[in-house]
Amino acid sequence: MSEFVTLAALAGEEEICTRCPLYRNATQAVPGEGPRGARVMLVGEQPGDVEDLSGRPFVGPAGRLLDKALAKVHLPREECFVTNAVKHFKFEPRGKRRLHKKPDAGEIDACRWWLEQERGLVGPGLIVAMGVTAIRGVLGRSEPVSRLRGRLIDLDEKAKFLATIHPSFLLRLQEEEDKRREWTRFLGDLEIAAEWTRAGDGLVSNG
Ligand code: URA
Repeated sequence: MSEFVTLAALAGEEEICTRCPLYRNATQAVPGEGPRGARVMLVGEQPGDVEDLSGRPFVGPAGRLLDKALAKVHLPREECFVTNAVKHFKFEPRGKRRLHKKPDAGEIDACRWWLEQERGLVGPGLIVAMGVTAIRGVLGRSEPVSRLRGRLIDLDEKAKFLATIHPSFLLRLQEEEDKRREWTRFLGDLEIAAEWTRAGDGLVSNG
């Protein structure tokens, strides 16, 4: 259930959120994007520099990599609801650049309310958390990716949960061998989500 009737109304409220201090320096809130009734909800960490300026999630370098991975496993992004655990960009100014800063537990927990509202409106049967911030946002507690990744977990009576790495982890790897191995593992995790959508699970969207 959500307190909002439409995703547009929800996005409008997210835009004026003051639940944590991050709204002060960000350009705008970046709401989740995708169809209401999407069966899969993909959750990232927070908007990056490009997303903060454009107002759309996962449209920068990490987003391009995510798009490539989703295409590889035949899980169309347009059919997923793509969002972030934290809706405002957290950064540190360094000259003309804005350096990404990880949101802290208080910020993730403050923003969790919005994630729950999005979930209530979209009604996904599977929530994919990419990285530790997303895991905390979805579960409400911190867990390492390594403990949970790669298998479907019952979140509650309405949805399953799948944890994987954040795509920006792949962008930070230096060694070709590491890149290849982790890319393959990431695709393997997303393949579980794609397979779940193909198999169907009998869950009806509550969006
Ligand atoms: N990283 C995220 O976690 N989310 C975005 O929207 C972009 C980069």
